[in-house]
Amino acid sequence: METSPTSDAGAGAPFAHRHLLGTETLSRGDIEQILDLADGYVDQNRQTDKKNGLLRGRTLINLFFENSTRTRTSFELAGKRLGGDVINMSVSTSSIKKGETLIDTAVTLNAMHPDVLVVRHGDSGAVQLLAEKVNCAVINAGDGSHEHPTQALLDALTIRRRKGRIEGLNVAICGDVSHSRVARSNIHLLNTMGARVRVVAPPTLLPAHIDRLGVDVHHNLAEGLVDCDIVMMLRLQTERMAGSFVPSMREYFYFHGLDYDKLRAAKPDALIMHPGPMNRGVEIDSEVADDIDRSAIHEQVEMGVAVRMACLELLARDQNAPWTRNQS
Ligand code: NCD
Repeated sequence: METSPTSDAGAGAPFAHRHLLGTETLSRGDIEQILDLADGYVDQNRQTDKKNGLLRGRTLINLFFENSTRTRTSFELAGKRLGGDVINMSVSTSSIKKGETLIDTAVTLNAMHPDVLVVRHGDSGAVQLLAEKVNCAVINAGDGSHEHPTQALLDALTIRRRKGRIEGLNVAICGDVSHSRVARSNIHLLNTMGARVRVVAPPTLLPAHIDRLGVDVHHNLAEGLVDCDIVMMLRLQTERMAGSFVPSMREYFYFHGLDYDKLRAAKPDALIMHPGPMNRGVEIDSEVADDIDRSAIHEQVEMGVAVRMACLELLARDQNAPWTRNQS
């Protein structure tokens, strides 16, 4: 049996963007529209029959130039639960290995008339470039250390459902901020939604002028967590590091890893989050990560599918509307 859209919120209302490339360009209204629609999909995904037919006849291509477990699977499930056809392009078996450029690959795929391209790429700005060359909607599933909008949206949905609001919450984003697209997308989104954001990291893992993004800066984890509602830990992204940014993993954990001792500074009901994949014993202690009363890490994964369904629905829905042309 097919179910109809499960949420009234955002139902039918046009979405103001043709692509989803980052959170920097999303308004509060855009974000609320996605989250309200996603709330309905959380319920749908908990039913035995998880499918509707909103994307029937539409094609989604997942084009991942970097490895991924949860994001790629999550987009695949999201597309299938909306009744669309989903193709996963694996870069290791594609013509990219034969030297085809990003743009040639995109233009080739575009000629097959996909409706949505979901793209992850190691270079900041690559997804935006690709979006300018194709006719379909493009979702950025992570470009270098620039943006990862659906991660920030799923984090926002997790926070809103657990805390009932985002506005006015103290959110600490901790760890390897320098290399993190998750941090950037979260900073933009949380600021737009009226949260108070701080980043907590050693100076070597903070980009220059980070304070210009509207965040407070701390270098000591216990100090940075004082009075926090949300503790968002980031993976130490060694694959993006040219050279050494931390003395050793052991020392990093000792000073900057989240354990119960440092967590005491946060509010007693502070929620612990991590985008995954986790480096246990590096940025987060296993016991804290697995604490079912405090950690929302598995819930974040669940919210990911719902948020991506909402994004796909909104972008696919208005695809033929002339007013959406040439907007990002
Ligand atoms: C993040 C990413 O790829 O940017 N992971 C994810 O999408 N869940 C964060 C990370 O890799 O550390």
